[in-house]
Amino acid sequence: MTVHIGAAPGDIAETVLMPGDPYRARWAAETFLQDAKLINEVRGMLGFTGTYKGNRVTIQGSGMGMPSLSIYANELISEYGAQTLIRIGSCGGMQSHVAVRDVIIAMSATTITSPSSGIFKEINYAPTANYDLLAAAVTAAKAKGTRTHVGGIYSSDVFYAERPDLDEQMTRHGILGVEMEAAELYTLAARHGRRALAILTVSDHLQTGEALPSEDREKTFGDMVEIALEAAFT
Ligand code: HPA
Repeated sequence: MTVHIGAAPGDIAETVLMPGDPYRARWAAETFLQDAKLINEVRGMLGFTGTYKGNRVTIQGSGMGMPSLSIYANELISEYGAQTLIRIGSCGGMQSHVAVRDVIIAMSATTITSPSSGIFKEINYAPTANYDLLAAAVTAAKAKGTRTHVGGIYSSDVFYAERPDLDEQMTRHGILGVEMEAAELYTLAARHGRRALAILTVSDHLQTGEALPSEDREKTFGDMVEIALEAAFT
């Protein structure tokens, strides 16, 4: 047990998928894993461990934003020995060629600040995905025929942004989408010598204002979970 995870030692697999929403963790575990068992419910941040094609995997909610994800990722890495951490989440589209329902595989994650900013001081560190996981996810997405984009994303600290000029600069520099967690996950994985990747479904679009109807979210989210599971065990 750690401060925020009630699982016993050994209850958590070396491969962990991390949706922001704990109910998504339950849905993904019930839908895609065999023998899924609840291993954490501290603060309602549900986590489940089961198997996928015979491989042990944990799906643990991260909460929203980098400070929350940082707590769970730190404890998963340092206390439970997680080796591969894949965020599965949603993002806002920032390019006209990126449509709602598309999947984004994040090569890098730009930030203004993250919980790790304090240790970098004057350095603008570039949080980067693990290449093997990224390549395996691209292969899995192509095999499924999912409309997929690979490139940079923006990990913001705010959902309700008050600075449209920042979004404009991100779009101008080719950033595909905005979410709130990946940069800290990539930074922690690098610091501890683990593998990390973020796979995101475009749930809304900053330029068009389009948003995915809630009944569509399950299907598109499912494609992303399958891509993550295939990538983890390739
Ligand atoms: N902004 C930040 N995070 C998000 C968004 C967004 O528009 N959509 C989904 N996650």
